[in-house]
Order: sequence, then C-alpha cells, then structure tokens
Amino acid sequence: MRWQAAPSKLFCSSPPDGNNTPPSMLRHLTSKIKATGPIPVAEYMREVLTNPVKGYYVRNNMLGPEGDFITSPEISQIFGELIGVWIISEWMGAGQPKQLQLVELGPGKGSLASDVLRVFSQLQSVLGGASVSLHLVEVSPALSLLQAQNLTGNRSQEADAEDDPVYRRGETDAGLPVSWYHQLDDVPTGFSVFVAHEFFDALPIHKFQRTEKGWREVLVDIDPEKPDTLRFVVAPAPTLASTSLVQADETRDHVEVSAEGGVIVQQLARRIIEDGGAALIIDYGHNGTKTDTFRGFKGHQLHDVLASPGSADLTADVDFNYLRRMAGGGVACLGPVTQRTFLKNMGIDTRMQVLLRNCSDPSTRKQLISSYNMLTNPAKMGERFHFFSLLHPSRLAKPQKPEGLKLEKKKSPAPLPVAGFTELKFA
Ligand SMILES: C[S@@+](CC[C@H](N)C(=O)[O-])C[C@H]1O[C@@H](n2cnc3c(N)ncnc32)[C@H](O)[C@@H]1O
Repeated sequence: MRWQAAPSKLFCSSPPDGNNTPPSMLRHLTSKIKATGPIPVAEYMREVLTNPVKGYYVRNNMLGPEGDFITSPEISQIFGELIGVWIISEWMGAGQPKQLQLVELGPGKGSLASDVLRVFSQLQSVLGGASVSLHLVEVSPALSLLQAQNLTGNRSQEADAEDDPVYRRGETDAGLPVSWYHQLDDVPTGFSVFVAHEFFDALPIHKFQRTEKGWREVLVDIDPEKPDTLRFVVAPAPTLASTSLVQADETRDHVEVSAEGGVIVQQLARRIIEDGGAALIIDYGHNGTKTDTFRGFKGHQLHDVLASPGSADLTADVDFNYLRRMAGGGVACLGPVTQRTFLKNMGIDTRMQVLLRNCSDPSTRKQLISSYNMLTNPAKMGERFHFFSLLHPSRLAKPQKPEGLKLEKKKSPAPLPVAGFTELKFA
C-alpha cells in the first residue's frame, strides 16, 4: 500500500521488468538522456507521472483495490465528511462570506469532493445563501472523466475554446457548478478553501547528496553496461538546483526538495492573504528530518523507482518545514498534526458511534470498524499522515482593544478556534 514506509534503492541500477522490448516511457527517457545528458530526478518524476501522452497519472486509474494504492477518501466516507465540516467551520470563522469556492488539487476519483458536497447539502441551512462552486485542478484526462462521472453524472462537457483555462464544465445533482483546470493559477480568484489530499507527495522532487566537494544533485542516467536500464548518478559539479535549493545550514547528508510544491504553496498563501480562505494539505511527511523517501508503488507493493518507468506510481514524503518556509510570514500556518489527532478533534468517534448505532448488518459494522481502524490506528494511517493548514492571519489574531479605551466593558468576541487542530469540547 502507498502509505507504507520503506527506503528506496538509491544508487542501484534497475533493469526493466521482464520483456525484451523497452516500454515507450523508457524509450522516451533514454532518448532524452542521450540528447541532453543525465536528467534531474525532478524531471524524471515529472515525465514519468505527468507526461501529457505517456504519463502514469495521465493514462491510468490507479486508485483502489484493483489499482496500485488506496487513499483515505476511498477507505471511508467519514474522512471526506469531516473535512466538509472543517471547511464549513473555516467559512464561518471567516465571517460567512457570500461566496465559497471549494478548490481541490489532485482529486483522484472525486470521492473526497463528493463526500464534502454531501455535507454541504446536509448543512444547507448553515451555508444559507452562500454561492458555492467546485473547482478541480487535475492533470489527468482519464481521472477527470472519472471525477465528472462521480460528481456530475452525465452533466458535464469538455470546454470548446482552446484558450479557455477551464477544460471541462459540469453541474452536480444539486446544481452546483463544477470546473476543471490544469493548474491552480487558472482557478478564479475569490474566497476559497483549498484541499490537497495526497497531492504534494506526487509533485517532482530534486534530490541532493552531501559530498566531500559540497552539495551535488542526484541525476538519472543510462547504465553504460546495460543500455535499457537507468541508474542514479551524482552530478560532478554544482547545478542551479543544488546551489539554490539546499539551505546553507542543512545538517542532513541527503535532501529532497520539491520546488514545484514550494511554488504551489506560495500561490496558495498569496490567494489566502488577498482573497481570504484557507488551505488544508494532507499527506505523509516530516518536518525537514527525513532523507531518502523517494519510492514507487505498483499493485500495492513497493516498486523500484527506476524500473519500467510509467508503470508504477512515484512518490516522496512531503517536507512540511519547507512548505511552511515557502508559505512566508504573511499567512498563518497550523500543524502538521497527525491524521489521528485531526480526525479525533473533528469528532470521528462520535460519528462512528452514530453510524454503528444505525447499522445492524454485521458485515457492514465490521467494515466500518476496520476502516475506522485503518484511518486512525497509529500503526496504520493514523500517525503516518499529517494535516497542515494555511489560514488568513485574521483567523488567529487576538481581538484588539480599541485605542484609548481604558475600561473595556464588553469583551470583543475571540476568533472561533480552528477545528481539527484544537480539541473542541462540545457542551
Ligand atoms: C496520489 S493521487 C491522490 C488522489 C486523491 N486526492 C486521493 O487522495 O484519493 C494524486 C492526484 O493528483 C493528480 N496530480 C498529480 N500531479 C498533478 C499535477 N502536477 N497537477 C494536477 N494534478 C496532479 C493525479 O492525477 C491524482 O488525481
């Protein structure tokens, strides 16, 4: 399963799986390397995952028991429902703006968005007259079709104009507009809550190795002994990335940096500061402590990252410390807290009790308990996954005493606590 931790096999060469004809992604990569020389790991990962013709995400539906990995929204609807409650609570904390854009980055099958929208429709009386819309940033045509099917039935169609930043439009059962984009920059401005579940771990990483001569970038090359086989090499001289992306006071010997993830977090921070809103980033990761986390998954098993490129998912742990640094000082950052803490703070135990009370079928009860265990057990996803949030600074600001007022008769209301990151006591 994808959430399993395991070291990748850095610096080992790896032959292609089985057959004698090199698969086309491997051919594409070897021609590229022959033309330009060894390529950065970030370029390798970008090509393998999102090449517009041959990329792993572009061609596949990889989620679920039949695919290569399974994710929390696919395990239980409770996961998306609690995120739906979090979004509404942030919208309320922001003073209930008239517009609410839900923006999901990398929505997979659309299950998370669908569970969130179900909560929106159940809490329609709370959302009142807010104009709600759904915006999906998805690079994969195959997955966007699946999302359209799940979220809109047959009420979606490809956009006609080539220069339209929206490539598909649709409408949910409840009449909410849904739009698909290739990149975050294309999503319209306005108060938005952004959700990224297992998105940042799929973004390309650069890898750097400390050597006697200083930091050097790790590159992907063709093995001179076996022409259809790729191997890692260390760049003989500094590259632009190794001189600009490694911190001067770095203490580790090996570092992975997703510059693309950093740029996306900067965009999220700028939007939240300018238009209001919040972002919830959920992923496996660390606080700038881990070293080599690059790994592949195929059929729920670990897979050599350089073998049969394009046939397996590639992923690396998210460095939340780096994301916090890239968010800058203008936006408030909360977390990371573990998935177990977040879900428990959001009331997963109470929700489970209600579901179990209303369920008499033994096999459904068993399934409910097993998915609860998978999501919250510290040895499973409970402590492996983390929740990290960007918020408008006003959400955490202490109320100011009006200037010149010595005796305050009435206290101004404190900001609502941020759900999930704080243990809320219900009366
Ligand atoms: C690991 S899957 C997670 C899917 C879903 N969020 C879930 O948890 O089930 C990664 C998702 O991000 C999308 N994706 C990967 N790289 C992307 C990129 N650069 N831009 C937009 N979407 C991307 C993939 O197509 C896929 O939908």
